[in-house]
Amino acid sequence: MTTTLIRGAQVVFPEGVRASNILLSDGRIAAVDVTAAVEASEVIEAAGLHLLPGVIDDQVHFREPGLTHKEDLLTATRACAKGGVTSFLEMPNTKPTTTTVAALHEKLELAASKCIVNFGFYIGATPTNLEELQRAERTPGIKIFIGSSTGDLLVDDQQALERIFGETSLPICAHCEDEATVRANAAAIQGGRDYADHSRVRDNRAAIIATRRAVDLAERHRHQFHVLHVSTAEEVAFLRDTSELISAEACPHHLFFSTDDYPRLGSLIQMNPSIKSPADTQAVWQGLLDGTLEVVATDHAPHTLEEKQQPYPKSPSGLPAVENSLALLLHQVSLGRCTLSQVVSWMCEAPARVWKLKNKGAIRVGYDADLVLVDLKRTETILNDRQLTKCGWSPWHGTSLTGWPVRTLVHGKTVYQDGQVLDGATGREIEFQR
Ligand code: DOR
Repeated sequence: MTTTLIRGAQVVFPEGVRASNILLSDGRIAAVDVTAAVEASEVIEAAGLHLLPGVIDDQVHFREPGLTHKEDLLTATRACAKGGVTSFLEMPNTKPTTTTVAALHEKLELAASKCIVNFGFYIGATPTNLEELQRAERTPGIKIFIGSSTGDLLVDDQQALERIFGETSLPICAHCEDEATVRANAAAIQGGRDYADHSRVRDNRAAIIATRRAVDLAERHRHQFHVLHVSTAEEVAFLRDTSELISAEACPHHLFFSTDDYPRLGSLIQMNPSIKSPADTQAVWQGLLDGTLEVVATDHAPHTLEEKQQPYPKSPSGLPAVENSLALLLHQVSLGRCTLSQVVSWMCEAPARVWKLKNKGAIRVGYDADLVLVDLKRTETILNDRQLTKCGWSPWHGTSLTGWPVRTLVHGKTVYQDGQVLDGATGREIEFQR
């Protein structure tokens, strides 16, 4: 049996940060606070580093099957390993869409042969696939596009939504931008010509109308519901008073970019929901800090630069982020804007809790040894030509950050160390507690 001793790290436990030696055995955390002299087949010297649970990114678009010129499960999970992301939950807008149990199982099989990190896949709702949603089991939950985005998944019809919330039992998450509002806004400015028009088409009203509508459905049907990518001050204010059935998340692009960045970055920050005003960005931060939003996830949505460089509105929405999200948040720790324990809560503990991942999201005896060692003092600059995502660019190109993952372990096996990804299908299917 392989055993690994991680010696001398400052460990981020759910109850706080302290020095501890951690023993891993058979892919699990076997013991904490062991003596430094304990026998192990491998010893990782981690003095000066912090040990965190691996990041769980509950919102990514990895493009396989069908859109693999943008990304695939191998390139995406190499990027995850580098970024300290040890588990991901992927969205159904691939080609074909993941809207049947058969398509879900095919994706799971494909992932088992390719993924370096652990994987789970949502099943997508359509106006007519209720039975599939009722039958699906090996999935964190149901994704609804209440408002269209990349691809053609959309459920806008009230009756169809009532049935999905009323007659299924898996947790639901949704992309909340009101379709009618988006269409009316687009018509009012003849579709728009400038990338900045994207934030006029997909405005604050579109977001809050759809978020209110979805939360109303969830609360009436007593259904667990997660609001993806909150982008507006109005949504944060509204979500402060919702019930325990409702959880919500923020994404790095809504925390670190605003409409002020369009002149510099143009379509690189064209996203759905759109980037909003600096005041909205502040409000989303405040929502995280006061616990209204509990998860940080990326919405990693790569497109090629060639696709992105098309004139608006032909340019597609989406940007890559999995390999930089943890560093972006660790940098905020270095600036004193939040604590390391808050980052672990947002990126590890909360997604595991919301989606009921079995044995993940914390450093606890018996939990999976999905871990990331970070160097809080290391400063590096994000550069397009160093990105592992297949699309080969980052909207944060040229940004220097302090605080980086240096080693990532999945089920006790090192998958990334000091700039090198160690390839192999080390990822496993995530299990859910129901
Ligand atoms: O900007 C986005 N891009 N938002 C989404 O909801 C989908 C994503 C994509 O798949 O490209």
